[in-house]
Amino acid sequence: MSSTTLSDLAFQRCIYPACGATYGIEEVRVSCSACGGLLDVAYDWQRLRPPASWSFFEQKWARRRDPLCFSGVWRFHELLPFAAPEQVVTVGEGQTLLHASQGVARYVGLREGRLFLQYEGMNPSGSFKDNGMSAAFTHARAIGATRAACASTGNTSASLALYCSVTRLMKAIIFVGSGKIAYGKLAQALDYGALTVQIHGDFDDAMARVQEVSRELGVYLVNSVNPFRLEGQKTVMYRVLEGLAWQPPDWIVVPGGNLGNSSAFGKAFAELAELGLIDRVPRLAVINAAGANTLYDLYTRQGLRWNGGAVERSLVDAYYTEMDRLQRRASTIASAIEINRPVNLAKCLRALDTCDGVVREVSDQEIMDAKAQVGAGGLGCEPASAASVAGARLLRAEGVIGPDERVVCVLTGHQLKDPTATVAYHTTDQQQFNELLGRRGVRRAAFANRAVAVPNDLDEIMKAIQLYS
Ligand code: F0G
Repeated sequence: MSSTTLSDLAFQRCIYPACGATYGIEEVRVSCSACGGLLDVAYDWQRLRPPASWSFFEQKWARRRDPLCFSGVWRFHELLPFAAPEQVVTVGEGQTLLHASQGVARYVGLREGRLFLQYEGMNPSGSFKDNGMSAAFTHARAIGATRAACASTGNTSASLALYCSVTRLMKAIIFVGSGKIAYGKLAQALDYGALTVQIHGDFDDAMARVQEVSRELGVYLVNSVNPFRLEGQKTVMYRVLEGLAWQPPDWIVVPGGNLGNSSAFGKAFAELAELGLIDRVPRLAVINAAGANTLYDLYTRQGLRWNGGAVERSLVDAYYTEMDRLQRRASTIASAIEINRPVNLAKCLRALDTCDGVVREVSDQEIMDAKAQVGAGGLGCEPASAASVAGARLLRAEGVIGPDERVVCVLTGHQLKDPTATVAYHTTDQQQFNELLGRRGVRRAAFANRAVAVPNDLDEIMKAIQLYS
């Protein structure tokens, strides 16, 4: 397909206002060639004239037999208008749920009806990544790519592999750190037929390699340095607003790994405010795992800020130099966010600026306890996702979040992604617990639901049921 059919009302632009270099929408790039900064997809809203009210989007649901109206990403097409309708690639992503959870509200310390879980585990590949993959795929197809690659802690790769196998448009090449990805995710990549390259190293090693390989071989890169990915991820926030009858909540709480989500959410709110579709921007809380806390260290401890685009890069460089000198590597049970060098750091700083944001870190103990509370409420999630709930609880305890505020925690990935962590938490086998969780500082499983071992004998089985139920 000819690239000239992509919208001429959209372009790519360096995120740093002082540079502001622009590039065509048909170009494949992950950074600004003038200054090395990240890129945004930007729009000529004056000429595009997006809808002035949300009712326009609501009406699309009545036309949901049209895949572009059914998709939870593309029914907001007018807010990410970089491709023509016939170019859009969708597999039905974004049919997600905003669930008011009383149990989790109580756990977090919020009044009833104030805590919402945005359950992105309902996506076709079981995580929020499908929102972004659908957008990246749309761009990739439009520019004629035949192979797509990513480095991943597992969910991006599962999503890429799924889009490749469902659409047959591209061949998937995925880079993972060996032993660094949860079984549910590895199973998906293998089952969907992706070329799976296991690197001896972690996510950051895989990320560095995939960028080299995609440059050398001209393979389309779908990691979140790709600005089109993040356009799709903006729609998570549109659906949150939809679930709240278009009233912005007080807080959005999201786990922070490579910082694509937080960056996309900030962009979404900045644009919605600019377009007059919201009159208030929610506050953003980004939650690191304590074992992978680069953003927390830099933002909360060292005071790094967006600063109108004048980010103090020397602070970041010094931080990484020291990290390398100490050979400090990320380590957390929340393998999805076990990342040392978040590629979207600068964009995330901008989002924190837009949304008057805060950053916190939570321990693996807090993550696993919060995860058990989410699971007990019926919408299970993987460990990384529960960082949002643990973070909301921490911010509530600090008094930063008030008891009456409306808080949305984004549950980024499905419970079944990482059964090993879940079973280890609930197990009666102390050795199994220690091997996975004890060594990461998890001391107890306060909310464990332990299996009851019973001999294969009817009387004994019935006795156990009477005793425990
Ligand atoms: N939650 C889950 C379940 C994830 O898989 C990821 C990232 C994050 C949170 C962090 O999101 O990067 O936008 O800050 N997973 C990536 C992957 C790195 O490769 O699947 P972020």
